[in-house]
Amino acid sequence: MISIKGEKEVESMRKAGKIAALCVEGLIPQVVVGNTPLKLDQWAEQFIIDHGGIPSFKGYMGYPASLCVSVNEEVVHGIPTSRPFKEGDLVSIDIGAVYQSYHSDMAVTIPVGKISKQKEKLLSVTRDALYIGIEQARSGNHVSDISHAIQKYAEKNRFSVVRELVGHGVGKSLHEEPQIPNHGKPGEGPVLESGMTIAIEPMVNMGNAKVKVKDDKWTVVTVDMMPSAHFEHTIVITHNGAEILTLP
Ligand code: MF3
Ligand code: CO
Repeated sequence: MISIKGEKEVESMRKAGKIAALCVEGLIPQVVVGNTPLKLDQWAEQFIIDHGGIPSFKGYMGYPASLCVSVNEEVVHGIPTSRPFKEGDLVSIDIGAVYQSYHSDMAVTIPVGKISKQKEKLLSVTRDALYIGIEQARSGNHVSDISHAIQKYAEKNRFSVVRELVGHGVGKSLHEEPQIPNHGKPGEGPVLESGMTIAIEPMVNMGNAKVKVKDDKWTVVTVDMMPSAHFEHTIVITHNGAEILTLP
């Protein structure tokens, strides 16, 4: 069952989204040489609480932190460590906040200092893939119209999309139906309707699509150890296209 949210619920999600987005805005200038994922996590947790929210991820299926910080070949779900950022790193930050019992979920990928041309391209293609997916998120379209647009764009740029992890419905729970894959044929899966709230989150690899989970049981890494990028927004389908809820 895909839940349809009313305006009051969407308003709570807008607030949850705003907390996450403002937090990301505050984190971006802290992604510098020498700072650590653990410090970002502590700062973000305090920020979310100070703004009246609750970190969505902490305690979710035993996840130990408020942020996921995934560096270079780490795709998603990186547990924040005390290993300092270095020049040229590609850092993905994934964050969720709960407000009035509703979740938001968003992610960005940020360069540390000067990064290689190829990493720059990976970053911009992944960000653009998210917005290309969001353009397909309108009532009457099928879920896989989003998936197909993302895959087509990433592959046209000679990158690959991760298959094992997907976007998702979001609301009273962090993960709701439907799943939103980042690959597939158009015109398949559930039809999108006004009032559906979903998180779209392309994960794009510079090398091949294969990923595995590290021994810590969380961190997803590329098998070929090439870099990966991740962008995510929570959106609501309206009568008039998609509205992004994770905005500052
Ligand atoms: N954005 C991530 C997702 O949708 C949330 C991280 S889940 C957690 O999978 F377990 F790490 F909290
Ligand atoms: Co998500």
